[in-house]
Amino acid sequence: MYGNDFGAPDDPAGQSLLDQVEAAERELRSAAERRLAGDDHLQGYFEAIIEADQKVEPRDWMPDDYRRSLVRQIAQHAHSEIIGMQPEGNWITRAPSLKRKAILLAKVQDEAGHGLYLYAAAETLGVSRDELVELLLSGRQKYSSIFNYPTLTWADVGAIGWLVDGAAIVNQVPLCRCSYGPYARAMIRICKEESFHQRQGFEILHTLAHGTPAQREMAQDAVNRWWYPSLAMFGPPDSDSTHSERSMAWKIKRFSNDELRQRFVDMCVQQASVLTLSLPDPDLRWNAEREHYDFTQPDFDELMQVVKGNGPCNRQRIEHRRRAHSEGAWVREAAAAYAAKRAVREPAGV
Ligand SMILES: [Fe+2]
Ligand SMILES: [Fe+2]
Repeated sequence: MYGNDFGAPDDPAGQSLLDQVEAAERELRSAAERRLAGDDHLQGYFEAIIEADQKVEPRDWMPDDYRRSLVRQIAQHAHSEIIGMQPEGNWITRAPSLKRKAILLAKVQDEAGHGLYLYAAAETLGVSRDELVELLLSGRQKYSSIFNYPTLTWADVGAIGWLVDGAAIVNQVPLCRCSYGPYARAMIRICKEESFHQRQGFEILHTLAHGTPAQREMAQDAVNRWWYPSLAMFGPPDSDSTHSERSMAWKIKRFSNDELRQRFVDMCVQQASVLTLSLPDPDLRWNAEREHYDFTQPDFDELMQVVKGNGPCNRQRIEHRRRAHSEGAWVREAAAAYAAKRAVREPAGV
């Protein structure tokens, strides 16, 4: 499967995830050209946009709850990209070769870029990036719990790329069709880059799995540790998911947590066999009736513990982020001073 964007086995059209991203991009462009029958009433107009699969843009009226829900989701997503730089960033100085170092450096920089696109998308909803950063640093907004697990060996960089970026893609490809235009457009670009991340992780694991017995063991150990936390990335089961129903009605979310988790499992089984590594689930087997793999659910109590701040690295991650933020104050000040000087020297429109 290396070198090929993994096709979801349950996808009737047989499209790869990247094909789906391309299709969403085309749809996004054509939505902008469609005209809506005029409805002067704001709520009616908003509902008509959603109904017609058009995009809600920053200039459009939108219900407060829709705005709040998007800010929460986009901010959490942006924070995850930024905090997610830490577990892999830890390995930049210890990458086993110059080539691996350059690739990992580029990957971690991509994640910073994803954070930037997403903070910019959130700002179109009327919040400032400073406010959002403050909400993260004070613990009032969350980031994905997966980044509260430690990276113990070099193989973890492979397992994160394959499983964590892989799960992120499965979660995020449907967001390319999200009803809010700036978020959908950011997701298209992000998904294309995540596809590269997933492949680099797969390639690291493939190399280790075909290396010395010790390297192979290291790869298997990393997969064993990252498998269930990756399954937990899809969130609580549908029966306990608080925000899902409304997000689906607003077409922010297109598939439920459980549907996406199943799609991810089906995809990984095939890829694990190419890696010649096993997934740590004795009950993983094909169910011909459902045409999906049966699998053991992740430990959702553990997920809730990590969400509440009791994961192995919660404190370390946020302390590191706070320190980086305060040590970077001079950079923000210098950038603001430079922008102010330029504005005087080159007034807008000149
Ligand atoms: Fe990312
Ligand atoms: Fe990524």
